[in-house]
Amino acid sequence: MRPRRFLPSGPLKGTIRVPGDKSISHRAIMLSALAVGESRITGLLEGEDVLATAAAMRAMGAAVERIGEGEWRVHGVGVGALLQPEAPLDMGNSGTSTRLLMGLVASHPISATFIGDASLSKRPMGRVIEPLSLMGAAVDASEGGRLPLTLRGASPAVPISYRLPVASAQVKSAVLLAGLNTPGITTLIEPVPTRDHSERMLAGFGAELNVEIDDDGARVITLRGEADLKPQTIDVPGDPSSAAFFLVAALVMPGSEIVIENVGLNPTRAGLIHVLRQMGGAIEELNPRLVGGEPVADLKVRHSALRGIEVDPAIAPSMIDEFPALFVAAALAEGRTVTSGLDELRVKESDRLTVMADALTAAGARIEEREDGLVIEGTGGEPLAGTSGAPVATHLDHRVAMSMAVAGLASCEGVEVDDTRPIATSFPVFEDLLEGLTA
Ligand code: S3P
Repeated sequence: MRPRRFLPSGPLKGTIRVPGDKSISHRAIMLSALAVGESRITGLLEGEDVLATAAAMRAMGAAVERIGEGEWRVHGVGVGALLQPEAPLDMGNSGTSTRLLMGLVASHPISATFIGDASLSKRPMGRVIEPLSLMGAAVDASEGGRLPLTLRGASPAVPISYRLPVASAQVKSAVLLAGLNTPGITTLIEPVPTRDHSERMLAGFGAELNVEIDDDGARVITLRGEADLKPQTIDVPGDPSSAAFFLVAALVMPGSEIVIENVGLNPTRAGLIHVLRQMGGAIEELNPRLVGGEPVADLKVRHSALRGIEVDPAIAPSMIDEFPALFVAAALAEGRTVTSGLDELRVKESDRLTVMADALTAAGARIEEREDGLVIEGTGGEPLAGTSGAPVATHLDHRVAMSMAVAGLASCEGVEVDDTRPIATSFPVFEDLLEGLTA
């Protein structure tokens, strides 16, 4: 454990650049490892989660090499040519690595054992085991469909048409990645759109992938298997989920004005910005451009008097990782914020409804926890009391730790967090950037 008290601070001032997008970084390594030849990646997120993906792809035969800060070179083995890993694949804290790699292994003639930390070992894998079993993979999982588990791939795998029962980009991506080495057409029906990085990047690597909208408005994604992926040069845009903590911090801290450079604004990820603007947040998009085929801008953020709102549950998939940060903004807004439709938050790195409700309550916020969301009565801009007794429990959840760090800035006593180590899974330079802006 590495506890830390995040102290009250003055305004945030200055310019920062957020590290590469975690979702895109995972996919960049995996797809490069499946292309024949050399891919180059710049702006890669060098957090523990992505490093777990890199190590796993190495264990399955790809040459994955760091050549500079955020700069990587990958020699892929080709779709169908992944090697049997000799040891269990240690996924650490990373659900994305686990679920996407299970998809890859599912259609290769190899087997792999997946292990992870205490948080990951509690998370449900049944949602990927089900479609991958339909494709022919054999899975021997721990009780409740959890890690550790061993997955034996099918060769050849069977193409399926699968309607996603949960709005999950990880499940969608697991099936698409399995489809890469499956003869014929794999079809996914996605009633509620989720982040589309897999679709964009698979097409970018040369896979035959189509997206159509059916009569019910669902996205129908088809992928032709036994694909030949061509090596690419990829520039990874900055992670909007990392920018979220600084967006909220600058909005709630009086006198703040910051610029966050290089923020990915893919519409399937930009929900938090819409919601914060609805609450009255001053967020300007400067210098809009495309990076690696994704819309990106620099965000200028000024302190704003936020008002509580009722958050439309339909926007949740486009900000699914940003609710912990939003809850902090709501705790400092004027009036009541109501969130609902957030059952998925209970199966993230922690149960983010209970864990954030407990942490914010300990810091002096007024929170009501409901089955599928939180209701938050804001302070109207007054700082929270902060914690004086026990540190808040982050349950191995990086986003809880970073959110409560922001709550600490906007408090009278500061907020003590029990463990800051998990921050390194997604945002190793978070504390340095925070110190720079509050210095
Ligand atoms: C991710 C999808 C989301 C998100 C996670 C990253 C991805 O998970 O929470 O941080 O890269 O596909 P779900 O698929 O469980 O919603």
